[in-house]
Amino acid sequence: GDLWDTEAEAAMGHIELARWADQILIAPATASFIARLAHGMADDLLTTLCLASDAPLNIAPAMNRLMWVNAATQDNIRVLTERDVNWIGPADGGQACGETGPGRMIEPEIIARAIMSDASAAKGPIKELRGNTVMITAGPTREAIDPVRFISNRSSGKMGYAIARAARAAGANVILVSGPVSLATPTGVQRIDVETAAEMLEAVNLHLADSDIFIGAAAVADYAPANVAGQKIKKSGDSMYLEMRKVPDILARVAASDHRPFTVGFAAETENLEENALAKLKQKNLDMIAANRVGEGLAFDQDTNALAVYWNDGRRLLPPADKLNLASELIALITEQFGKTILRQFTEECKK
Ligand code: PMT
Repeated sequence: GDLWDTEAEAAMGHIELARWADQILIAPATASFIARLAHGMADDLLTTLCLASDAPLNIAPAMNRLMWVNAATQDNIRVLTERDVNWIGPADGGQACGETGPGRMIEPEIIARAIMSDASAAKGPIKELRGNTVMITAGPTREAIDPVRFISNRSSGKMGYAIARAARAAGANVILVSGPVSLATPTGVQRIDVETAAEMLEAVNLHLADSDIFIGAAAVADYAPANVAGQKIKKSGDSMYLEMRKVPDILARVAASDHRPFTVGFAAETENLEENALAKLKQKNLDMIAANRVGEGLAFDQDTNALAVYWNDGRRLLPPADKLNLASELIALITEQFGKTILRQFTEECKK
């Protein structure tokens, strides 16, 4: 690249590149590049980019064996090691110059693998859910009474959509199973529209085997009319009776499935928030539950919300905030506990 590309640099291209990177890898890195980096030079695009980024820096040296063992090079290596540079190689072997010894670049496949494993361990702006699929339900369901009437609730889908956005920002593949809402689909998210609880269950089942994490933010019906009238029900007596039947609990089914993802439920409560949430956590066998107080001007159809999040051996209160901020905090909590679960399962596997 050229630092003097006037068009790209008008937008400060090197800073943009430096911010964008999750990891920086220089392969092959020459003795000259290593020397310039050790001295903090910023005289070309590559050195400038390295100076302007706080992403983990990986260097795979490639040079003649005598240049590698030269005291000047070794001093530079030491300086950069103190600054947390991650060295990949060099290998020992035949060199382009015909000599044999240290300084040969490590095989690209091995470099790639080293970076990948390091990326998952590294801190910083790493996309922590990259490679994982998160399925989220959002919005209300509608249960038909007759061809023109239905039973529903006040859910707007804002909470679930904010979670979809946050999960996507964390690098996940996101499947958003959505009841009828008037929201735009978040960028990069796969959205599946459904209307009834039965349709939502079907869509969830279809993608369950691919999901690593399930988050039930939808306000799903608990009961639906036992019979849907084929024609519009006529106005007649002073009162009418509507028989309702329980619909399947999608969340409980997900948690009980063979391919069980890390399962997160919501609890919408008008009273006894903690008690009811803990009961749902246990009864539905969830990994985590996010409880919100609902009612007059709370949670449903609002831009803000507050959550009390409970899991097996912990809890966290997320005070009132914009739903998008809250969603990011929730995703961070889920990522943390999901990671621990994976580690626990892995340890169990190793013991077998
Ligand atoms: O959509 P918004 O306007 O932004 O509002 C957000 C919200 C208040 C709807 C959201 O934060 C919320 O609380 N969603 C869950 C609503 C709900 O149905 O809670 P519940 O306590 O009745 O159900 C407990 C859990 O079981 C929920 O995860 C729910 O998705 C799930 N459930 C319920 C019934 C059912 N048949 N199937 C289910 O999966």
